[in-house]
Amino acid sequence: MFLKLVFMLFFHVTLVASEDNSFIYNGFQSSHLYLDGFAELTSDGILRLTNDTEQVIGHAFYPNPIVFKNTSSESVSSFSTTFVFAIIPQYPPFTGHGIVFVLSPTKGLPNSLPNQYLGLFNDSNNGNSGNHVFGVELDTSKDFEFGDVDNNHDGININDLKSVVSTTAAYYDDHGQIRTVDLSSGNPIQVWIDYDGVKKKIDVTLAPVYVVKPTGPSLSMTKDLSPILNNSMYVGFSSSTGLLAASHYILGWSFKVNGQAQNLVISQFPYKKKSKISTVGLPLIFLSLVFMITLGVIYYIKRKKFSEILEDWEQEYGPHRFKFKDLYFATKGFREKGLLGVGGFGRVYKGVMPSSKLEVAVKRVSHESRQGMREFVSEIVSIGRLRHRNLVQLYGYCRRKSELLLVYDYMPNGSLDNYLYNQPKVRLSWSQRFRIIKGVASAVVYLHEEWEKVVIHRDIKASNVLLDSEFNARLGDFGLSRLYDHGADPHTTHLVGTFGYLAPDHIRTGKATKFSDVFSFGAFLLEVVCGRRPIGRVGENESLVLVDHVFECLKRGEILEAKDVYLGTNYVSEEVELVLKLGLMCSHSEPLARPSMRQVVQYLERDLPLPDLSLLSLSSYGLTFGHQELVEDKTVPYTSVSIAESVLSGGR
Ligand SMILES: *[C@@H]1O[C@H](CO)[C@@H](O)[C@H](O)[C@H]1NC(C)=O
Ligand SMILES: *[C@@H]1O[C@H](CO)[C@@H](O)[C@H](O)[C@H]1NC(C)=O
Ligand SMILES: *[C@@H]1O[C@H](CO)[C@@H](O)[C@H](O)[C@H]1NC(C)=O
Ligand SMILES: *[C@@H]1O[C@H](CO)[C@@H](O)[C@H](O)[C@H]1NC(C)=O
Repeated sequence: MFLKLVFMLFFHVTLVASEDNSFIYNGFQSSHLYLDGFAELTSDGILRLTNDTEQVIGHAFYPNPIVFKNTSSESVSSFSTTFVFAIIPQYPPFTGHGIVFVLSPTKGLPNSLPNQYLGLFNDSNNGNSGNHVFGVELDTSKDFEFGDVDNNHDGININDLKSVVSTTAAYYDDHGQIRTVDLSSGNPIQVWIDYDGVKKKIDVTLAPVYVVKPTGPSLSMTKDLSPILNNSMYVGFSSSTGLLAASHYILGWSFKVNGQAQNLVISQFPYKKKSKISTVGLPLIFLSLVFMITLGVIYYIKRKKFSEILEDWEQEYGPHRFKFKDLYFATKGFREKGLLGVGGFGRVYKGVMPSSKLEVAVKRVSHESRQGMREFVSEIVSIGRLRHRNLVQLYGYCRRKSELLLVYDYMPNGSLDNYLYNQPKVRLSWSQRFRIIKGVASAVVYLHEEWEKVVIHRDIKASNVLLDSEFNARLGDFGLSRLYDHGADPHTTHLVGTFGYLAPDHIRTGKATKFSDVFSFGAFLLEVVCGRRPIGRVGENESLVLVDHVFECLKRGEILEAKDVYLGTNYVSEEVELVLKLGLMCSHSEPLARPSMRQVVQYLERDLPLPDLSLLSLSSYGLTFGHQELVEDKTVPYTSVSIAESVLSGGR
């Protein structure tokens, strides 16, 4: 006994019973779990189902099947499990989407979707009785589609994301008082799930780890699981993130068929404090990984011939089709020194064209689907004909296997975000900022209304605004997100854009419109004036939603307080006020209540007086909004209906 204890203490050992009807993990070092998606074991032995990446899933399953009944006619045996989890949102308190304990006939849940689908099902097999899936969800988002009670609940799911029963996450304390548990507080929470095979009853109990198992369950249901479970099943966890992401962790887990799951030994868990769980050492590992991958890529490129793809249909297009070889030499082989940035769509390198000495920026966009690529290239090529002094000029492109290279005008002063946050070395004056704002506005009007086709930008934000040698704004990256949109089911996955800039209507319908561009433009206005991101961390557990902050200032009658402190006193207060108010108008949750880009320009040029914001937005007209993945109980309460509130309730 003593020896075993010592052994366990030293190795956080995983004891697996000889027969696969029970197991216990007090930490996951050297466990042989089946993992897929974003699930991984951290170096200190914590099971992480997802990290902060948006719209991904993670699965972890005990590797061997567990026998729940020997013959199909038999009824399912009793089983019991307990585990400890923690959810750390990327931007507290906004989080998504949760963890499900799951019994599945297959190892993994193929073709399942992230977001509200929790990595369990997709929109075609959800609710299908042939799924044979039993789950207990710890759901941190409220999805109307599945009739969720709130954004912090546990529920029992049978073949369906719509829970059979569910309740706000809570437990009964010693005095019989109900206490709610914040699932995404980042603190470890223990869950017990017990199925009584004789009474056909499922009990779910949860409480913070420091609380002993409460005597009564917080959720229970009488249901014979025999028709639902197959003879042998895989047990595990599924998790997903949405536009709001969180790291979902499992710290320890015990399971048993025909008996009580062994107690977890929390003291053996490999976590110390919250901060430990998050990211000690990760940046370093990640950096070296990036470095190694980069080395690998360079090596690969050096080795590979300058192969590219040219199809007949491409000949007919106007803009320049570059030779890969030329781009290779222009960028000196895409060397690291010439790396200008890494964006959502790929890496950007500086180059000088050998013959013309023209300075260019070369963006390498990798893409798997040949089909999407074909449509995209024709689109890019037509976009290459766009001409506007505030758009980054696309000179041409080059196409290789699963890769597209886009050649743009080089912008010596880089992207605007570098001058706004994180203690920039150079700060922009008000007149520079105002000129940038007007420039971007006129570029968007051109895209929306003045060119031969309507072009929706889809990703307007400071980091997509580049600055030329005189700090004139040039909007870049238009249409790129199209590439990732092709063929995606709009209301499920692959929403492209950047959280904080995405309009609620865009999120809801998956469709980018002129209105959703205006919304992003509004977020952009506020970030330029305030020198803050649309949503960002302030302190460990708090986030600042910029539009709320500006709105609060407006309500107090001190809207100028929202401006960037680094503007000093050298600004025109009428202009600052105008831009802030315009930013709020553009952030309206109701697409039709937002101004058009043409109107935006007229307001900025003062050709049109700004309407009275209190009339437009503070009446309750049009401000309630139906979509809610939101966290009502965790956000700052607002007393009146406000733009900010509606943006919030719509925006996630
Ligand atoms: C999440 O994990 C993936 C793969 O494991 C990694 O590529 C990515 O950089 C991670 N993202 C964050 C935000 O940690
Ligand atoms: C299946 O049969 C074996 C051998 O008879 C028995 O030990 C085991 O408990 C049974 N399993 C279940 C789930 O009933
Ligand atoms: C689960 O059981 C059902 C019905 O008995 C059967 O159709 C299905 O193939 C089984 N699934 C697996 C993966 O064995
Ligand atoms: C949904 O998942 C099922 C089961 O894996 C799969 O057969 C089906 O093709 C998927 N449907 C879609 C639309 O992905």
